[in-house]
Amino acid sequence: MTTVWILGGTGRTGRAVSEVLTARGLDVVLVGRDAGRLRAATPPGARSMVLTSAEVPAAVRRDRPRVVLNTVGPFAGTADPVVDACLDAGADYVDLANDMAAVPALLARNAEAVAAGRTLVTGAGFGVTGTESVVARLTATRSDAPLRVRVDMVPSLALQAGQVGEALAGTIVEGLPGIPGGGRFQGRLYLGGQLHPTRIGGMVQRLVTPDGDVVTTAAMPLGELVAAQRASGAPDVLAASSEAPSGRLVGLLPLGTSILVFAPVRRLAGRLLARVRFPDRPAPRTHSWGHARVTWTDGSVTRGWLALPEAQEATVVIAAEVVRRLADDEGRPGAWTPAALFGPELAESVGGRYVDGVRA
Ligand SMILES: NC(=O)c1ccc[n+]([C@@H]2O[C@H](COP(=O)([O-])OP(=O)(O)OC[C@H]3O[C@@H](n4cnc5c(N)ncnc54)[C@H](OP(=O)(O)O)[C@@H]3O)[C@@H](O)[C@H]2O)c1
Repeated sequence: MTTVWILGGTGRTGRAVSEVLTARGLDVVLVGRDAGRLRAATPPGARSMVLTSAEVPAAVRRDRPRVVLNTVGPFAGTADPVVDACLDAGADYVDLANDMAAVPALLARNAEAVAAGRTLVTGAGFGVTGTESVVARLTATRSDAPLRVRVDMVPSLALQAGQVGEALAGTIVEGLPGIPGGGRFQGRLYLGGQLHPTRIGGMVQRLVTPDGDVVTTAAMPLGELVAAQRASGAPDVLAASSEAPSGRLVGLLPLGTSILVFAPVRRLAGRLLARVRFPDRPAPRTHSWGHARVTWTDGSVTRGWLALPEAQEATVVIAAEVVRRLADDEGRPGAWTPAALFGPELAESVGGRYVDGVRA
């Protein structure tokens, strides 16, 4: 049986993916740092292994699983040692990264992956896959290169009551340190193929989904931006999200972020934010949507949508399907985002539905 390791096996995504893969007959090993939580999380038919993050690389080299799924963020910190071990051990690697640091860093390891004959996949979740798939589908219809692309991700995300937590709080208050083309608390877009600053929450657009829901999206520099640029080859690319801070929050951002350049302020802000509690929220819409608008050199415009289920459910089925395909030797050597590797059909294979031919 093909063995798949799931790092972060006690987490929301790790647990759900392990259930899907176990049901599909794979030998799943949930990896986590706490024996009690791991026991509670392990579904019938799966195995578990207690390891700290520091112990994981040596264990991968020793046991040589076929595929490792990393669900422990922030991925800019956790990916590299696990990828090193996977390349040494002959394992394929998948993660759920969706940020401007981790996605390009993993993709930059393409030559190493090719040399090792292994497949590395980043962005195996709703945001990257949901938007790059629409771009790939639209650009496959023409032989000329697009001039301009805007992608919008519209997750319909159900929230379970809880605290913001340290990982998410850290990501929010740390901003984008070390990302070229602008400052730590600025957004990014591509102009002429280069990253430039833009305002987070700017470039607001009102969209009506094919279901008739009205949504507002605004600039949000995430992994979608990098994936859409690579999928289209367009010099000018913007990525936006319906979850971008908007309205009153946008007004506060320049003031709020300026003091975050001081590390002690960031640490305090992170601790306070981590403790913020949020209530249960049902999924606000029937579908999560990826949307893309492509402008061509002749001035014509094409648009398309991809309907997916509730955003967390979409992430689970996408990650599980990518891992399943790699376990069945369907990968190709290199470092990829999911639709770059498997094409826009990947989304359809997990129940996604394209709605295109939409008039611009
Ligand atoms: N790309 C996308 O669309 C997408 C979608 C969903 C999630 N994500 C990302 O995927 C990650 C997982 O999301 P989730 O909702 O499943 O999170 P979660 O429920 O909070 O689970 C996080 C997991 O990581 C483990 N973990 C955290 N810090 C660790 C550390 N220092 N050492 C070892 N294990 C550690 C936790 O283990 P313990 O139980 O021991 O704490 C837990 O198993 C997040 O980074 C999230 O941003 C991306």
